[in-house]
Amino acid sequence: MNFLNEVSQHWPDAVSLAAGRPYEEFFDDDAPGRWLDRFRRHLADDLGQTPEQVRRTLFQYGRTKGIIHHLIARNLAVDEDVHVDDEAVVVTVGCQEAMLLVLRALRAGPTDVLLAVAPTYVGLTGAARLVELPVRPVAGGPAGVDLADLRAQVHRARAAGLRPRACYVMPDFANPSGTSIGLADRQRLLDLAVEEDLLLIEDNPYGLFPAGDADRVPTLKALDTRRRVVYLGSFAKTVLPGARIGYLVADQRVGGVDGAVGLFADQLAKIKSMVSVNTSPLAQAVIGGALLEHGCSLVAANRRERAAYTRNRDQLLAGLRRRFPAGSPVRWNTPAGGFFVVVTVPFPVDDALLRRSAERYGVLWTPMAHFYDDGRPVDALRLSVSAVTPAQIDLGLDRLAALITDELTRAAIPAG
Ligand SMILES: Cc1ncc(COP(=O)(O)O)c(C=O)c1O
Repeated sequence: MNFLNEVSQHWPDAVSLAAGRPYEEFFDDDAPGRWLDRFRRHLADDLGQTPEQVRRTLFQYGRTKGIIHHLIARNLAVDEDVHVDDEAVVVTVGCQEAMLLVLRALRAGPTDVLLAVAPTYVGLTGAARLVELPVRPVAGGPAGVDLADLRAQVHRARAAGLRPRACYVMPDFANPSGTSIGLADRQRLLDLAVEEDLLLIEDNPYGLFPAGDADRVPTLKALDTRRRVVYLGSFAKTVLPGARIGYLVADQRVGGVDGAVGLFADQLAKIKSMVSVNTSPLAQAVIGGALLEHGCSLVAANRRERAAYTRNRDQLLAGLRRRFPAGSPVRWNTPAGGFFVVVTVPFPVDDALLRRSAERYGVLWTPMAHFYDDGRPVDALRLSVSAVTPAQIDLGLDRLAALITDELTRAAIPAG
């Protein structure tokens, strides 16, 4: 991520098809203030807090597990048909902190390992590195997860004396692959988790953005009748990234160091108290107000955004088809939603090529090699459609096509 930031700062005029940020045209200067007021009224009118209590809730250090947990639980019920106790929710500093807390809790000893569907979000592998939890890749493939490989990886790790603690998955429009897991495979994945006694970490920042008017597939957590899933959520793409609010749902009952059984969420909250004490109540209030304003439904709140991402995805796919017609060695996938499309080319795609792309062609993208942890060359790049206009997509694709054409020509010319 640092490398990408460095490249985009160095070439600020380049069209960025790299950033997985949400669309900025809908940012509204008045919204955060309005949402803060809405949440303040909620504290007073719905929860019966006195003006002094309201002030303390917003201005003081606060509850480690957060102050909008009940609204998040309601949001999950309304939008996802996920029904969990408010106490199983921990509000975190972005989804990133949620990941860190879960991985830290799972890392009990040197034989513990994490399985993760590859390619994997870099924030996950970075957090795992920080807590010294090795990540072993599981094949993703076009179906989102290769279940046979997952089982094989569990067995292989155990045969090597290791303890696979969990498998990290992004069932909806994964970052970076864009792939999704179908309903039948979600059921099979849950069954496999029970059979192999494995926890699943479901990360779902893009689930509200299926392309067009396609129906959403139930989350793993919605199908999780056996408490195998720790669910990670983010409001960065659905409300406001600047608030830095995310959350986790951990309704498993686990034994603590003292032998007492309690909620996994409470164990995670103990770790959080030593990482960030509590999540900013003011930032939580902004997100809480946004939830209240929309009856706790972010599906309803994101209609414009969903339409914009669909429009951009369609623009990108049509632009790729026009520039690389049938017979071209350039290929790409067609994700059913989300922010990302993966383009495969017949030459190595590395950081040096990205620098050349930024400097000489004025277009940024992300090498897919960044999302694999083994340093292998990967002949693919990730394009993001979330933070650009249709005109920028066309300009970016013109520039990308020029780069690819030149690389293909270079590859075809024998050295010397
Ligand atoms: C798969 C995935 N998980 C988590 C995050 C981070 O979310 P947050 O901004 O809430 O920390 C991202 C952000 O891009 C992401 O793509």
